[in-house]
Amino acid sequence: MAKMTFGVACAIVAAFIAAESANSEKPVISFSRDVQPIFSARCTMCHHEADYMGGLSLSPTLSYDQLVNAPSVGAPKFSRVTAKKPEASYLMMKLDGTHAKVGGKGWPMPPPTNPFIRLSSADRETIRRWIVQGARKN
Ligand code: HEC
Repeated sequence: MAKMTFGVACAIVAAFIAAESANSEKPVISFSRDVQPIFSARCTMCHHEADYMGGLSLSPTLSYDQLVNAPSVGAPKFSRVTAKKPEASYLMMKLDGTHAKVGGKGWPMPPPTNPFIRLSSADRETIRRWIVQGARKN
């Protein structure tokens, strides 16, 4: 009896894990449709070609190449985005405010000094999922 209960519990946990990993694959995030509009609304007022704040432009024609496999300025041993690895992507560390733990510099992004440009957790999750799904130029 105890064994069966344990078996049932394992099956439930396994089903839960399967559902979770399926979740990170769906819905498929598109860089141009889902991610870039977040940058264009909340980041490009500072991160654009005339300025390159933090050495970074997030304007539509440049953002992908500026992020994926591009070494960060703040913590150069980390790329800004490493496909499939949000925990190793400096962009994600800046968005979560954990960059100082790896020796990164400056503020969390967007800078907390302006309450009107905060990212919602849904926006952060969209960016994180795009990285988990392979940081594709889709
Ligand atoms: C008010 C201006 C401003 C806004 C808005 C802003 N940033 Fe920044 N960002 C900066 C400055 C200045 C730096 C350089 C200093 C630092 O790292 O804190 C920087 C640095 C960064 C870096 C580190 C780059 C590197 O290679 O070290 C990332 C990543 C970043 N910003 C992403 C974003 C994202 C994504 C957004 C929008 C959600 C955003 N920023 C919004 C001003 C801004």
